[in-house]
Amino acid sequence: MEGTVSEGLPVGGTGDGQLPSGDELIGVESLVKHFEIRGGLLGVRRIGAVRAVDGVSFSVRRGETLGLVGESGCGKTTLGKVILRLIPATSGQVRVKGRPIFGLNDREMIPIRRDMQIVFQDPYGSLNPRMTVGEIVGEGPYVHGLRSRQEREELVRELLARVGLNQSHIHRYPHEFSGGQRQRIGIARALALNPEFVVCDEPVSALDVSIQSQVLNLLDDLQQDLGLTYLFIAHNLAVVEHISDRVGVMYLGKLVELAPVDPLYQQPAHPYTVALLSAVPETDPRKRKKRIVLKGDVPSPAAPPPGCRFHTRCWLRERLGNPERCATDEPALREVRPGQMAACHYAEEVSPAAIEAASRASESGMTAELAAG
Ligand SMILES: Nc1ncnc2c1ncn2[C@@H]1O[C@H](COP(=O)(O)OP(=O)(O)O)[C@@H](O)[C@H]1O
Ligand code: SF4
Ligand SMILES: [Mg+2]
Repeated sequence: MEGTVSEGLPVGGTGDGQLPSGDELIGVESLVKHFEIRGGLLGVRRIGAVRAVDGVSFSVRRGETLGLVGESGCGKTTLGKVILRLIPATSGQVRVKGRPIFGLNDREMIPIRRDMQIVFQDPYGSLNPRMTVGEIVGEGPYVHGLRSRQEREELVRELLARVGLNQSHIHRYPHEFSGGQRQRIGIARALALNPEFVVCDEPVSALDVSIQSQVLNLLDDLQQDLGLTYLFIAHNLAVVEHISDRVGVMYLGKLVELAPVDPLYQQPAHPYTVALLSAVPETDPRKRKKRIVLKGDVPSPAAPPPGCRFHTRCWLRERLGNPERCATDEPALREVRPGQMAACHYAEEVSPAAIEAASRASESGMTAELAAG
C-alpha cells in the first residue's frame, strides 16, 4: 500500500519508523483517514475533506509504551480508532503480529478485536449510565462467549480487584463513582478480554492532577503484571514522559518526530517538538524555562499548508531566512540521529544555541506585543 492513496493524494513520510518484524506487535503503514465534508444544495456533494490522519507509518514493539502527543485536533484519537478498526481507514494498512487486518472479515476479526482494546478519554461519557459495573465490565466476555453468569461475575470481581476497586461495587452504577474510579472501571473493561495491545486515549486528561498519577501508576503496574503493549495518547508531553519508552509527535495529521524518550526530551530534533517541550512548565523554580511561543493558530486540517505543514509557524524556518523549500517540499520522516526520526529538512540546524536565540526572539516579541497592546 505504498506510494499513492485514494483520491490521488501523495503520502509523505511513509515507510519509516519500521522495525524488524519479530519485534513488532502493531505495524502502521501509510495510514490515511479523511473525513469527507459534504455541502451544496442537497448537502450531498463532496466539497472537501478533513485530513485527520494523512500518511502515518510506525511500529509498536511488543511490551513497549509508545506515547503519542500533539495539540488537540491533530489526529491522535482518529489514528487510535483507525488502528483498532473502530472506524474504517481511507487507505493504508495495519499489521497485527505481521498480519494485515484491513482485508479481514468480521469473523476473522473476532480474535483480533479481543487482543486490541481502548481506554477512552472521558470516564463520564464512555460508561453506559444504565448499566451496572458488573454489566459494563462483563459485556465483552459475554459477547465473546462467556455465557455462565457465575463465571462472569467471578471474572469481573477479579478485574475490579486488579484495578483497585472494591468488589462490592459490582452492582453499582457509574454515577456513584468519582472520575478516577470511573476510569478504573474503563480500564477493567478494557482488560476483561485479556488483550495484548491497549490504546489509552488521554486516559488521565479529564482527571484531577492529584488523581492522574494514581491512574498512571495503575496502568504501569498492569503493564508489568500482564505484559501489555500500550499506545498512550496525550496532548501534554509531561504526561507521557514517565510512562513511555518511545514518543511520537503529531502535527496536523502527520508524524513529525519519533524517538526514544530520553533523546526526544533532551535533544528534540523537530522544531515543533522543541516548541511543545518549551511549553511544559519547569518544576524547578530556580531554573528559567526557555519558551518558544508559536505564532498563529493551528491551520485547518481541511486545508493544510503545502510543503512542510509546520512552515507557517516554524521558528527555525524564520531563523534560516524562510527557505522556499519548506513551503514546497514535504519533508519525509528520516533518521536524524541513530533511532531518532524527524520530518524536517533542516533538523540538523536544531541546536541549543538556535533554541536559545529563538526563545529570546519569542520573548522580546511578546514584550513588544505587551508594550504595544
Ligand atoms: N467523525 C468525524 N467527522 C468529521 N471530522 C472529524 C471526525 N472525527 C474527528 N474529526 C476531525 O479530525 C481532526 C482530528 O480529530 P481527532 O482525531 O479527534 O484529534 P485529537 O484526538 O488529536 O484531538 C479534527 O479536525 C476533528 O475535527
Ligand atoms: S521543514 Fe522547514 S518549516 Fe518544516 S519544520 Fe523544518 S525548518 Fe520548519
Ligand atoms: Mg483526541
